[in-house]
Amino acid sequence: MIYFDNSASSFVKPKIVKQAVMDALDKYTANPGRSGHKLAQAVASEVFDTREVVLNFFNATNYNVVFTKNCSEALNLAILGTLKKGDHVITTMYEHNSVLRPLTFLQQHGVEVSIIDCPLNRVADEIEAHIKPYTKLVITNAVSNVTGEVCPLSEVSYICKIHNILWLIDGAQSSGHMDINLDELGADMYAFAGHKGLKAITGVGGLVVKNGIKLNPILFGGTGTESENLNQPTDIPEGLEAGTIPTIPIISLKAGIKFLKNNWNEIKAKEHALNNYAYQKLSALKFIKLYSPANAQNVFAFNVGGLDSSLVADELNSRFNICVRAGLHCAPLVHKRLNTTYQGAVRVSLDYNNTFEEIDKLIYALNKINEMQSG
Ligand code: ALA
Repeated sequence: MIYFDNSASSFVKPKIVKQAVMDALDKYTANPGRSGHKLAQAVASEVFDTREVVLNFFNATNYNVVFTKNCSEALNLAILGTLKKGDHVITTMYEHNSVLRPLTFLQQHGVEVSIIDCPLNRVADEIEAHIKPYTKLVITNAVSNVTGEVCPLSEVSYICKIHNILWLIDGAQSSGHMDINLDELGADMYAFAGHKGLKAITGVGGLVVKNGIKLNPILFGGTGTESENLNQPTDIPEGLEAGTIPTIPIISLKAGIKFLKNNWNEIKAKEHALNNYAYQKLSALKFIKLYSPANAQNVFAFNVGGLDSSLVADELNSRFNICVRAGLHCAPLVHKRLNTTYQGAVRVSLDYNNTFEEIDKLIYALNKINEMQSG
């Protein structure tokens, strides 16, 4: 089987991640931050270490991290925890529904939302043009989950800094694939998923939050702190992590990042070479409409003539044993920009595990599918 759906979730997980999960099931199944016994303390220490590992990986010395169950929850926390009636927020048409849906909800409750429509590499100027005196937050993803286009993060950073506006990055697709230096970027919040590029198992994501930022909680319950207080504490991270946290996925995240750090240069070089190869091969096919640019980061979207993207994905799966994702990828406004709302697009998303031969097999399969439709 050929797996090209790494933007949805990475496959195969590194051996040290599997081993960390097995060890954790033996040693770390107590509840951290609640009871004070040895087992609970051992788990708390693993969670504490993982926070350090995450912050170090994103070079975030002036930040803390709130663990969530996935990237969507981290984005919800950042958005719902920051904006209130009368605020203005600017975002782009490249965003995922985990940004667009909370914003649509807030729009119905008095928050003004501007969604800018231009290629991702030109968003900085457009963001600046939309700023109002009451703009509170800018939200951009780092890499589009549909086209692999990369956001000019340093330019957006500059605009947000000079206008003193909070900036949230959706790092779902960038984490574990490119260098992210939060101290340098100065982003106020960075949301990530554990199970994609960071190689953890599903069940953990997080929001890296700059020290000093205040967020309203979106989840209420036990924190293991201030138990006499019936109001939800808002200290970061505990106040925003109500309920038992996903300890085993968190421990697997520590192992996933360890794996990345140990192999970082090789991983980046391999993915860079795979990206170039995939772009070259896909763009050479005359019957393909490719929506991704030459510098796409691990993600390529295309269509085969007028064929419905789901039909192509089904053929790839059933006849050629190739896993891809079709449709709208939970990012409907990108498809509106691409004019693919009805056809959707076939998405191939790569990881260092993939090979050049697998890309050749994809190209062979696409040729066959095209012959079938034209024959
Ligand atoms: N957001 C994930 C994707 O793009 C699930 O497939």
